[in-house]
Amino acid sequence: MTKDINKSEFDEGTKLKLSIFRECFKEWYPVFLHNQYISKLIIYDMFAGSGKDTAGNMGSPIILLQEAIGNEKQYCSHIRQNNKSVILAFNEKEEYKRNELECNIKQEIAQCKTTCQFDTCVFDKACHYAHEDFSDLIQKENLLRILNNAKYAKFVLLDQYGFKQINDEVFLKLTNAPKTDFIFFIASSFIKRFATLPAVTKYFKQENISFKETNPKECHRVITNYFRTLIPADKEYYLHSFTIQKGSNYYGLIFGTNHTLGMEKFLRVCWRHDTLAGESNCNINNDFQKGELFYQPGASSKKQDISNDIRQRILTKEISNNKDGLKYALKCGCEPKVYVDVIEDLIKSKKVSISGQFNRTAMNIHNAKLYNIAVI
Ligand SMILES: C[S@@+](CC[C@H](N)C(=O)[O-])C[C@H]1O[C@@H](n2cnc3c(N)ncnc32)[C@H](O)[C@@H]1O
Repeated sequence: MTKDINKSEFDEGTKLKLSIFRECFKEWYPVFLHNQYISKLIIYDMFAGSGKDTAGNMGSPIILLQEAIGNEKQYCSHIRQNNKSVILAFNEKEEYKRNELECNIKQEIAQCKTTCQFDTCVFDKACHYAHEDFSDLIQKENLLRILNNAKYAKFVLLDQYGFKQINDEVFLKLTNAPKTDFIFFIASSFIKRFATLPAVTKYFKQENISFKETNPKECHRVITNYFRTLIPADKEYYLHSFTIQKGSNYYGLIFGTNHTLGMEKFLRVCWRHDTLAGESNCNINNDFQKGELFYQPGASSKKQDISNDIRQRILTKEISNNKDGLKYALKCGCEPKVYVDVIEDLIKSKKVSISGQFNRTAMNIHNAKLYNIAVI
């Protein structure tokens, strides 16, 4: 039987996971809250737990609520003034945990009210609770209608135990839903360990997953690539993962979005946590680290490999404009600036010329002014 995560103090790996959830949502939320074309934001925590651990550390639902309120309650005023609707939808299979969660959320709101000028809280009626099995919930017409509604912005957090809840079908439902970004947790090394057993093969098609010749650190990358193969090749979609080592086990997060801005923001979070590769807490590429003889600040094998790759693709005309270069960097899990550094170097060394107005845009790349690249 799985140990209840809320019945002891969260370990360091769990705290890291929760920090990434927090930062990821913190980046996502204002984008849609301030988008004049979006009237409703729905935030789902599908495996919500009871809200706290035994030491009083906050779990994902309270973290989401706090971030939805914002520092100094900045977002509440915006919601009031702009008639926005923000819904926090919490699901937890165990009814007693769902009830405990409702108490914890109400306590958090009550605490917040003690320093609020208003009598009613915008989140009083915004929090919804369910205690369903996720596998039933994800089949429900009502939920699917919301997920597929392009007028609503959706953030879906799926902090499952193990690996069984997010199968191919669920993953495709999420990737096909418009204006829907999601992040899920998965116990990747358990899939590796039991790869040939029916308990795993029932969920993952073996021909698309191969752990051969991969070192244990890489198993979450392998799982992420498995999910990547499910996305049609002609679909513009961004997926990135973050590996979390806990002792000898490897877990991970997978974030998905169909918008470059969503991925820019998630990558910013990941590179803040891992300045070498933006994808793990375990120095996944065995780079030299601070304090080691060959350590070079700002350099890493990932940055070098992706720079070389982009350079090669420009010189072979596979990348022929800035938008493609910037997006390619994102697809490789690098912040778009890596492309800008490469193109500047190629221009300086007279290997390429630019037609159109050259610019160094490396943020909000969907707004970047297009220029073309000609190889000299
Ligand atoms: C990893 S914990 C989530 C912890 C939570 N995110 C937090 O920060 O405290 C997974 C939760 O999902 C619940 N759960 C397990 N199976 C579920 C299912 N099939 N559907 C919905 N909830 C489930 C468990 O009871 C547990 O509370």
